[in-house]
Amino acid sequence: MVGVAGFPAWETSLTFPQDDLSKLRDQGLLRQLQTMPATGGCFVHEGRRWLNFSSNDYLNLVHHPTVAGAAREAIDRWGTGSTASRLMTGHLELHGELEQRLAAFLDVEGALLFGSGFLANVGTLTALAGPGDLILADKLNHASLIDGMRLSGARWLRYRHNDPEHLRELLGANPTDGRRIVVTDSVFSMDGDIAPLEAIATVAREFGALLVVDEAHAIGVQGEGGRGCCHGLVETLRPDIILGTFSKSLASYGGFVGCRRELRELLINRARTFIYSTALPPASVAAALAALGDLEANPGMAEALRQRATEFGQMLMERGLPLHCGESQILALMVGENEEAVALSSSLRDEALLATAVRPPTVPKGTARLRLSVTLAHEPEDLETGADLIATTWRRAATA
Ligand SMILES: Cc1ncc(COP(=O)(O)O)c(C=O)c1O
Repeated sequence: MVGVAGFPAWETSLTFPQDDLSKLRDQGLLRQLQTMPATGGCFVHEGRRWLNFSSNDYLNLVHHPTVAGAAREAIDRWGTGSTASRLMTGHLELHGELEQRLAAFLDVEGALLFGSGFLANVGTLTALAGPGDLILADKLNHASLIDGMRLSGARWLRYRHNDPEHLRELLGANPTDGRRIVVTDSVFSMDGDIAPLEAIATVAREFGALLVVDEAHAIGVQGEGGRGCCHGLVETLRPDIILGTFSKSLASYGGFVGCRRELRELLINRARTFIYSTALPPASVAAALAALGDLEANPGMAEALRQRATEFGQMLMERGLPLHCGESQILALMVGENEEAVALSSSLRDEALLATAVRPPTVPKGTARLRLSVTLAHEPEDLETGADLIATTWRRAATA
């Protein structure tokens, strides 16, 4: 086919996907879907016991009879979909009930559900900030926070990871007449370290900035009874917005915001990912409600998981593995090169152990790693077996 002068022929322009994919392959950055035989931290498949160290079902609730039963009952009563956005006709009693239970659990005035954690983050930042405002974000914040701040149209700057002094420096050097917003994860999803929230909140307050904290990996695990990292802060240092998701500890799907009543009202009116998106399906809401109920009834689960994660971190270190940080249930084993991380992950899969390789742009260049997460599905002997398998496979790869 001949192109119009100045334009490539249509067929030629279609080679771009292959070109782009080849580049990714050459850099060891090509991502491919891998079908998992089952879900959960441990499962039996074709007679073999699998250890999954890449599950975010931290409290081991996705197969819990109460949680799964609540989802089934919700489908029987409400059907499989909520049929419209909350502001149209999709707002069910269940949505309101989950928001109230969540607000009480987090000890905040109000909560608002979103279609996912990603949508909650994008919707919140785009609703709170706009041209003329300034957002200060931790260098390693989750992609959804980065996209939210980019889409908001506000000016944004990134401070060095977990460095409140750099945050203070940037706030001091960048005066603005607009709103200032400080945004951070509490538990960082790919490193597993925890933000120094007290110091960050102190700096934010000093400059009259709003504080937004993403507790996606903290709810259910950190803080008293799994209420998250922000819960232990004194009242004056509590964030203005807590972001979270039901897709990890709460064994379901959907995102949420916890905040003051009037901020919630504003988000209902301004957050486009809330306004223009269908309400969460009843089964997801019911499952989240049941998981939250289970966590409230068993507040020791969070501490038990933290304890298990500490033990696993120690096991990895005793075996000489390069553990990046051992502060939470997420542990990063630093590999460095992309191809090596993928090869290691693949060898472990051959041993029925799932440990996903994480590469740029999810993490900085040269810091490819295995991201390991401990869950309550892992019994102490699973942790020993896992640590042994990882250490043996690691050594075999190093001497190959
Ligand atoms: C820190 C953080 N925030 C937000 C999200 C998005 O949550 P969701 O999976 O519900 O979209 C994730 C992960 O997936 C995350 O790790």
